[in-house]
Amino acid sequence: MRYPHDFHRVNGALYCEQVPIARITAAVGTPVYIYSHRTLVEHLQKLQQAFAILRPLICFSVKANGNLAILRLLVQQGAGLDIVSGGELYKALQAGCPPSRIVFASVGKSDEEIDASLAAGIFCFNVESEPELEAINRLARRRKTLARVALRINPDVEAHTHHYIATGKKESKFGIDPKTAVKMLRRHAQLPGVRIAGIHLHIGSQITQAKPFVQAIQRGGEVIRQGRAFGAPLEYLNLGGGLGIIYKDEQPQTPQQFAKAVLPLLHQLQVRLILEPGRFIVGNAGVLVTEVLYIKQAYGKQFAVVDAGMNDLLRPALYGAYHEVIPTGRVTAARNGQGRYDVVGPICESADVLARDRALGRLGSGQQLAVLGAGAYGSTMASNYNGRLRPAEVLVRGTRWAIIRRRETVADLVRHDVVPHQLIR
Ligand code: LLP
Repeated sequence: MRYPHDFHRVNGALYCEQVPIARITAAVGTPVYIYSHRTLVEHLQKLQQAFAILRPLICFSVKANGNLAILRLLVQQGAGLDIVSGGELYKALQAGCPPSRIVFASVGKSDEEIDASLAAGIFCFNVESEPELEAINRLARRRKTLARVALRINPDVEAHTHHYIATGKKESKFGIDPKTAVKMLRRHAQLPGVRIAGIHLHIGSQITQAKPFVQAIQRGGEVIRQGRAFGAPLEYLNLGGGLGIIYKDEQPQTPQQFAKAVLPLLHQLQVRLILEPGRFIVGNAGVLVTEVLYIKQAYGKQFAVVDAGMNDLLRPALYGAYHEVIPTGRVTAARNGQGRYDVVGPICESADVLARDRALGRLGSGQQLAVLGAGAYGSTMASNYNGRLRPAEVLVRGTRWAIIRRRETVADLVRHDVVPHQLIR
């Protein structure tokens, strides 16, 4: 099987598309996120093709990667955007996304965020509670407009993923239970400021099988049928995101397999489809490149101390997530048993481990490592913890590359701090 991205070796050196990684790091330093234009576009196209028959609205989930260049290139390829805040609304508009392709999901939308979205004229709000529906109605009336909304249903299905990223079980804070949703459809059909035009289901992230999606659609479908029975105009089904990718040895469904499993149900329901993929599009399209600062031995263990930490890529520390790590240069064999390392960052936390017990050959200071599968929830979850500067980001397209986010400077660290002289002399 073709490895699902455009990072590969040429004579021992790691390339992104046709550009050696070392050429980029020589110019911009490390740590740096590097993305492949081709992988991004190909992944979007795979989904577009698999569901072509339904001509779905595919809204890339901005939370997975909010870089303006990446948003713009996906929008140019026909994607819409899935946002979760006023900040992401701003980014989506900055990236040139037509408001008619923006959907807004969040369990806690503020009046300000709702109003800005109404002003922009976004396509749909994914509503997560009755008071939120009332708030959207009130604000839409004030603007003398009609907001299209979808009710987010919590179908209570097991997504078989990390418990932090499972969102469709009954104990989670997300969505509305089917019974309440049907009640809301009946009770609120006449609200003057909103039109409940569909339902939304997002049951979690990094889901590798189709079955949980099928179960979710079946439960959501029941709400649609009951709602339609008393006249609710439910035209849309938003299936959320969640498609899993390969980090290690997962065998995720392909978009074709996914489509094959869900299309018959969608046809039966006669709905228009919206999807909100994040990870599937950008996960394997990005790597984090970091440099080895020191090799250190302690109690018989070997550590590669690198210049990227949990502030740059939080997933291993937060979810125990596995990311493949490979040297960007030629791998040199180590003497028996000596080439295994814990790859650790410089941060003062024991959780600051990017990878454990990895065979990386003989490593030394100055060598660079690529952390694979870092395109989704990498840069968006980065922070300034420990006074660290968030990394630069680079996009590669064929033989060309460009910086798409400058590395922060120390001045950025204090940009918003205020020392109030009336309180502190
Ligand atoms: N739609 C909604 C309503 C969501 O909450 C999410 C992700 C998505 C779409 C996109 O899901 P995706 O296709 O990327 O799986 N930080 C975690 C993932 C959190 C996902 C949150 N919601 C991680 O690094 O694994």
